[in-house]
Amino acid sequence: MALPPGPRSSLWSLVRYFRDPMGVMPAMAKEYGETFTIPGNPPLVCTGDPEGIKAIYAANPDTLEPLSKDLAFVLGDQSLILIGGPEHRRKRKLMMPPFQGARMRAYGAAMQRITEQHTAQWEPGRTVGGHETAQRISLEVILEVVFGLREPAERAELGRQLTELLEGFSPLLGIFPWLRREFGGIGPYAAFRRRQRAVHERVDALIAAAREDEGRDDILSLLIGARDEDGAPMSDEDVRQQLLLLVVAGHETTAIAIAWGLYALHQPQNVDVLERLRAELRALGPTPQPELVAKLPYLDAVCRETLRRHPLAPAPAPRRLLAPMTLGGYELPAGVGVAAAIGVAHLRAQSHPDPLRFRPERFLERKPSPFEYLPYGGGARRCLGAAMADYELRVVLGTLVHRFGLRLASNEPDRGKVRAANVGPAHGVKLVVESRRPVPGGS
Ligand code: HEM
Repeated sequence: MALPPGPRSSLWSLVRYFRDPMGVMPAMAKEYGETFTIPGNPPLVCTGDPEGIKAIYAANPDTLEPLSKDLAFVLGDQSLILIGGPEHRRKRKLMMPPFQGARMRAYGAAMQRITEQHTAQWEPGRTVGGHETAQRISLEVILEVVFGLREPAERAELGRQLTELLEGFSPLLGIFPWLRREFGGIGPYAAFRRRQRAVHERVDALIAAAREDEGRDDILSLLIGARDEDGAPMSDEDVRQQLLLLVVAGHETTAIAIAWGLYALHQPQNVDVLERLRAELRALGPTPQPELVAKLPYLDAVCRETLRRHPLAPAPAPRRLLAPMTLGGYELPAGVGVAAAIGVAHLRAQSHPDPLRFRPERFLERKPSPFEYLPYGGGARRCLGAAMADYELRVVLGTLVHRFGLRLASNEPDRGKVRAANVGPAHGVKLVVESRRPVPGGS
């Protein structure tokens, strides 16, 4: 059966992706059309056409499964992101309540406090790393709201173990299964397994402690208390796998989004956007409440525009077809991979006029459909943490812009760099602190 056209070489496509992760998909769409095939085993049909995206997200979820389960040795084989069918639905329902919009107010104070703590040393004249600071903030937020660790020392210990595990992970282990052997305790896999065991022990101890303590309302405690339709709870092993998924899926993603927001807002050509945002924040007074910051309409538009202009991955979470599907006029057979190409959809002039320009106003003028604008994916697997990520992006960016006058240390455009499953800024978004508004009653 004929698949949509596309490049001939999978290796060359991969090289192009690493060289220009943001530009490659729009370039392929220009060459081959909005629905194209990247060769491989299986071939992956990507589409940026809203009709094609709708076909993927509206399909019966039982006819699709995650394309790759290669990361089961990292996340566990019951990790929500790796399972499909009725088991995925059951688990997702159990995990959903802590991520519903109404819960976010409870997390906002921690997000703001942690942002203030991590920028306490930002003094005028200093050059600071926007991405690095965002990474530290988002990791601490996860540790507090997910694991309930309110003490900085407790957060530091688990944070260190998790960072060692994630940063020490060699991508080669993901690509070559034959490397996943312990070889008598030496080599990258043995080192990975040692760190993984240490994290598991620590998380298991936190689960045991949470079972003893009924008065908590962090996500870990909510997962322990969750019951499915038959009244069954999640096992400890299951809770641990899902907690680690939340760290992996929620930490670097949010940090990258904050970093892109800082980058876009401080580009010289976007000075009017920054001014308008500052004025909106100033109107909230010297100590804005996080829930008021999170509701600001222009900040909301800025955050949406950040995720449109700088999507985190050009075609995240590909699926494998378990039944044939019609896509872009092609009859795709079962077995083929399909992916919504966010990187194409978000830069389509028909959906987002003047697509390369950072113009938050577009979101105040028109609401794009969920198949034209999909930073969190869609359908039955739409990002579980979307409400939390949206809230955190607003509170952290809002707090930083309210508190500091910043400028980019370099005005060189940042074309992005592949960072594990995401595309982040290549140069860390270095910023020079120009001014700092004092915290009333604080330092
Ligand atoms: C700006 C930040 C974030 C972005 C852009 C983002 C984006 C995404 C995308 C595109 C997917 C795949 C959706 C699909 O398959 O259609 C996803 C899945 C997921 N995300 Fe996020 N994410 C972010 C933050 C978070 C946070 C903070 C958490 C939790 C703490 C989280 C948890 C998850 C989980 C658990 C899944 C798997 C859902 C499933 O398979 O049912 N994400 N995310």
